[in-house]
Amino acid sequence: MKKAYRASLLRFDDAGQPVFDTDGLLVVAPDAQGRERVVDAGSHGAVQPRHPDVAPEHLPGRILAPGFVDMHIHFPQTDIIGAPADGLLPWLENYTFPAETRFAEPAHSAEVAEVFLDELLRHGVTTSLTFATSHPASVDALFAAAQRRQMRLITGKVLQDRHSPDGVRDETERSLADTEDLIRRWHGVDRLGYAITPRFAPTSTEAQLRGAGELAARHADTWIQSHVAENKDEVKWARELFPASRSYLGVYDDFGLMRERAVYAHCIHFDDEDRQLMRATRTAAAVSPTSNLFLGSGFFDFEGAQRVDYLHGLASDVGGGTSFSPFHTMLAAYYVGREGQTKPGLSLAPSRLWWLHTAGAAQALGLTGTIGNLQPGCEADFLVLDPSATPLLARKSANAASLEELLFALIVLGDDRVIERTVIARAG
Ligand code: GUN
Ligand code: FE
Repeated sequence: MKKAYRASLLRFDDAGQPVFDTDGLLVVAPDAQGRERVVDAGSHGAVQPRHPDVAPEHLPGRILAPGFVDMHIHFPQTDIIGAPADGLLPWLENYTFPAETRFAEPAHSAEVAEVFLDELLRHGVTTSLTFATSHPASVDALFAAAQRRQMRLITGKVLQDRHSPDGVRDETERSLADTEDLIRRWHGVDRLGYAITPRFAPTSTEAQLRGAGELAARHADTWIQSHVAENKDEVKWARELFPASRSYLGVYDDFGLMRERAVYAHCIHFDDEDRQLMRATRTAAAVSPTSNLFLGSGFFDFEGAQRVDYLHGLASDVGGGTSFSPFHTMLAAYYVGREGQTKPGLSLAPSRLWWLHTAGAAQALGLTGTIGNLQPGCEADFLVLDPSATPLLARKSANAASLEELLFALIVLGDDRVIERTVIARAG
């Protein structure tokens, strides 16, 4: 059944520029498969006459906006958010691997999957590219929970067959067979997608990386996700383990793990050759600023990414990241962009930050026109935002003289209180 919502409406055009209708109308209807999609969007005055058959739900003072897309997050790290450590490698050893060990138990995986998806939706995140653990049961649990909620979600079994403790370390042949089995069972089912997931080069043997690359070639529309160039100790370690590769990023290229739909978290300690390689292979960076600030990893070079023009978007990286909230991530990205002592500093426009967490993130995932926007044809994952959710935000948004000022007020002062409703595109 066709439905319409009348409120302010935020979308993005093909160039990534914001389109804002103060009195907007969003019209959604099921497609041939029954999935709800946007069929019309724009100013109420222009759109309403085209749909005389529907009575819109009126949402005065609210903003309709695309659901946020989180390009990199770990569902098994939900409970270790905010675990302090002296940088990435001690954090993995002392908190992350012990926590992930528990996901061998299906019941634990299922329980945390529900908590994780509740948190995403509460914070307005409608799609995430998500790490599970090395245990296939963790992948089954998350896919099953997302499927019940009809969410678009991408995840995969972590591949880590060395330099990892008992309990999370897997075995090369078995890990690749398990991956292919999970691809067959889940990839493309309803709104679910599979990501081939080597944790990072230091915890995989050459044989495992080679096998992952072969799977990525054989299943060309799957995603690939990993980590790269996050922390200087990690970079040094990767360079020692793979001396034949030109750089840490080059390891992934050497094993066939850079292509469209490949997404690497962090991408901080890069040179321009790395950036050119990202561009040439249409590989995307998942920029995770709260995590990078929390773990003291470094500052992503937004100027370098824009100059070389390679795909990138925003991510929480929970549990290294400190918040599920896209508002917190966008604000941290602004801080990181401003930092001008270790790399060029710049001021990311509020609409640019927002794009990097919606339509830009969708583009980086190869999902333009499917999610991350409210243009006709997009799946109807959207948010109802309340720009007066707190007293100070209400003052700031009432006094905003432009769209950029309004978006910046939400980014600086907003959190889950702004998310009044998260709507998932349903089927039937
Ligand atoms: N590098 C390898 N594993 C991880 C992880 O779980 N989190 C982060 N932030 N970096 C990693
Ligand atoms: Fe991560």
